[in-house]
Amino acid sequence: MIEFKNISKHYQLKGQTIRALDQINLQIPAGSIFGIIGYSGAGKSTLIRLINLLERPNEGQVIINQKDFTALDARSLRQERANIGMIFQHFNLLQTKTVAANIEMPMKLLGWGKAEREKRLNELLEFIDLKHKKDAFPDELSGGQKQRVGIARALANHPKILLCDEATSALDPQTTKSVLALLKKINQEQGITIVMVTHEMDVIESVCDYVAVMEQGKVIETGSTIDLFSQPVHSTTKNFIQTVLQQQLPVNILQNLENQNHNSIYSLQFLGTSAQETVVQAAIKQFDISLNILFANMTEINGTVIGQMFIQLLGDPALVQQTIQFFEQHGVKVEQSGVSA
Ligand SMILES: Nc1ncnc2c1ncn2[C@@H]1O[C@H](COP(=O)(O)OP(=O)(O)OP(=O)(O)O)[C@@H](O)[C@H]1O
Ligand SMILES: [Mg+2]
Repeated sequence: MIEFKNISKHYQLKGQTIRALDQINLQIPAGSIFGIIGYSGAGKSTLIRLINLLERPNEGQVIINQKDFTALDARSLRQERANIGMIFQHFNLLQTKTVAANIEMPMKLLGWGKAEREKRLNELLEFIDLKHKKDAFPDELSGGQKQRVGIARALANHPKILLCDEATSALDPQTTKSVLALLKKINQEQGITIVMVTHEMDVIESVCDYVAVMEQGKVIETGSTIDLFSQPVHSTTKNFIQTVLQQQLPVNILQNLENQNHNSIYSLQFLGTSAQETVVQAAIKQFDISLNILFANMTEINGTVIGQMFIQLLGDPALVQQTIQFFEQHGVKVEQSGVSA
């Protein structure tokens, strides 16, 4: 487990103090894929760089597997760092070295013998599916291939933790998917803890078990990805979720409504079930109300389906209330819809 205890980090810039991190307390379970999301300047990179102490905190402790990293001397820290791999947005490959030489670099630095290096290199090339590019130079590779080389280099030394700072932000959506699939495979097959900084909610949605949302140097919300998606509390979290799962009724649908009574609009949230239509059909059958489906969408997080549906319920107020209760009894979360301005 990686633990941040009361971490603060300040920078001095032109006589001003910038609070890059402000009293962070966070726990990252071993073996998980943990996402850190936030807008630019939130402190995400600063936080991830504290894990291997590329940055030192002004206050607080970084504890990894019960070991206080902030208290280690330089030599022990170097040893521990060898267990932590890192990949970057712009890959950080050495342009004048081949794929093979880039991947072998950390092994050379650790003084591995030639035969041992060769063996590991071949394993890694196999794993990232780039055997045929062994002797190519970085600028002969696509972005996705470069990031695969970055991943192989980070894994060379069998790390227990892999840090990814915007590792897919420079890639197109299709390549992003394949790199994320590779990271998921690394996590599942080798049990490596992956900490992933991103500003894209679909990255979180597709691979992260847990997520922390950062704003202005603070963690404003954290939990399992599914909990965060189904019960976001903070408005920033809601804005991020909105990018992948519509949380509000689109304005043009609202404008085209025949009955403009906006109090009659409800959002229904279905969690862990794909039986949305069945429940809605049953409600229509049972209650003498007018139920109009305005908009629906769904997404899947780690195998659990979350569906969001906007409906207009018109009729006798007592019956409308009964219909709402019926939904709730069937595990559907009902809210009077947040009508966007
Ligand atoms: N070396 C530094 N000197 C001064 N200020 C810094 C330094 N590094 C970061 N900061 C400031 O600390 C804050 C957090 O920066 P950080 O790079 O962690 O944000 P981020 O969430 O990673 O943003 P982005 O999404 O743009 O990468 C910002 O206000 C930034 O300007
Ligand atoms: Mg950053």
